Amino acid sequence: MIICACEARPCASVVKLLRGFSLQKISVKGGNVLKGSVEISGSKNATLPVMAAVLLGQTPSIIRNVPYLNDIKTMAEVLRKLGAKASLEDHTLAVDPSGFNQFEAPYELVKTMRASIHSMGACLARLGEAKVSLPGGCAIGARPIDLHLKGLEQLGATITIEHGYVHAKASKLKGSTIYLAGPHGPSLGATVNVVMAATAAEGTTVIESASIEPEVEDLVHCLIAMGAQIEGNGTSKLVIHGKKTLKGVDYSVIPDRVEAGTFMVAAAITRGDVLLKKANADQLSAVIDKLRQIGVSVEVEVDGIRVKCTGDYKPVDVMVLPYPGFPTDMQAQIMALLATVPGNSMVTETIWENRFMHVFEMNRMGADITIDRSHAVVKGVKQLTGAPVMASDLRASAALILAGLVARGETLVQRIYHLDRGYENIEQKLSALGADIARIN
Ligand code: EPZ
Repeated sequence: MIICACEARPCASVVKLLRGFSLQKISVKGGNVLKGSVEISGSKNATLPVMAAVLLGQTPSIIRNVPYLNDIKTMAEVLRKLGAKASLEDHTLAVDPSGFNQFEAPYELVKTMRASIHSMGACLARLGEAKVSLPGGCAIGARPIDLHLKGLEQLGATITIEHGYVHAKASKLKGSTIYLAGPHGPSLGATVNVVMAATAAEGTTVIESASIEPEVEDLVHCLIAMGAQIEGNGTSKLVIHGKKTLKGVDYSVIPDRVEAGTFMVAAAITRGDVLLKKANADQLSAVIDKLRQIGVSVEVEVDGIRVKCTGDYKPVDVMVLPYPGFPTDMQAQIMALLATVPGNSMVTETIWENRFMHVFEMNRMGADITIDRSHAVVKGVKQLTGAPVMASDLRASAALILAGLVARGETLVQRIYHLDRGYENIEQKLSALGADIARIN
C-alpha cells in the first residue's frame, strides 16, 4: 500500500479515509477461545524515533518492518514538512533526506501525535534550529517536555517558548554531561532527542539516567549503523562522541512488545492457546513474569512465545515501573485480565497520572474496580457483560477489546481512531485466532 509519497499534505483520499476511521466502531462478541498463531508487527514506538534519526544521514535510508499505522503516516507527514521525501510500501519506508531544510513541526501534526517532537533533536543537529508545537496534555496525563529542553540546553541550544511553539537554536552544539531523569524516572522521548542532537555536538556527551527502553536501544543501534559513535547502548549511561558524518542506513525495526503483550493477554483472558510469532521474550520479562504469577502458561519457543491456559488463575498486584519494570503501556490490558480473575488485585500506575480512564468503561461492562489516586483495586468478577464503551487512548482501546473478548454479548468500542494509531490490523489478527470481532460503521 502506498501513502501519498513525497507530498507536503495528506492527499484528499487519505483525509477522507482518516475521517472515515473516526466514525467506525469495533464490535466484539465475547466467548470464543483464541487458538492459533499471530505474527507481531514492527514496533510503532521504535519506528518513530528511527524515522527522525534517518534525517541525520547524508544519503537516503530504508526502514523495514514498519507497521502500517496512522502514527507512522503522521510522522511521514512530519518528515515531508521538513523537506524530506518519505514513501511507505509493503512495510518498508524509504526516506530521502536530501531536501531536509525546514525545521518546523506544526501544531496540526503535533496535536495528532506527540512523537512529532522526536524531530527536534534531528533538526537541531542538522539545521541548528528546531521549532515544534508544544505537545500539551492528553488523555493519559500531562506530557511535559522539560527534560527534552534541559538536555538540549545543556548541549548549547537556546530555547524560547512563544505562541505555543518551542523554538531551539544553536549555532554550535557542544558535548556535555546531562542527567536526564525526572520525577517519574527516565524519559524515552528526551533520551531520543538528546542522543540525536549529541551526534552533531562537538566533543563527548554523557547521558546519565538515560531511558533503557528497547525502543531507545533500537534507535541507538540504528544511529551506530549510520556511523555514530555511541557507547553503553542498552544501559542508563550513554556516551556519544559527536561530529561524525552520518550516512543513510538499511534498518529493520524491532517487533512491537506492546502489541505482543496485548496478544498475550488476549490468549490468557480467553483461556486460549496462542503462539506469538516474532515476539521477543527478553523485552517482555515483567509482563511474562506477571502472567505466570497469575497462572498463565508462557513458554518461549523457537519462533516466538506460546501463551496458554492450563489451570485456574489467581489475583496479583501490578506496579507499573520504568523499563525493565512492568510497562505503563500494558497496564490497561492486564487490568482487563485481572477484572476476570477471582479475588482482589491491585494495579498501581506510576508513570502517567491519568491513565485509568478505561476503568470507568470496564465497570460499565460489569467489572468491579475502584480507584484510589494511583491505585486501582480490581475485584475479579465471574462474568463481564458486553456494552457500548468509549476508548480514551490507544492502550485503553485495546483493553476494552480484550474485555469484550470474554464479555457475554456484544461490546461496541467507539473512538477507535486511537486504536488505528497503534495496532496494525488488530481485528483481522484477532479474528484469525477465532474471535468474533468486526469493524463496523
Ligand atoms: C513514550 O512516551 C511512549 N510513546 C509511551 O507510549 C510510553 O507510555 C512512554 O514512553 C513510557 O514508556 C512513544 O514512544 C511514542 P517519557 P514518552 O518521556 O517518550 C515524564 C503508547 O501508548 N517526563 O518516557 O512521551 C513523563 O511525564 C504511548 O504507545 C517528564 O517529567 O514518555 C512520564 O511520567 C503512550 N519530563 C515519564 O517522564 C519530560 O520532559 C516518562 O515519559 C518528559 C517526560
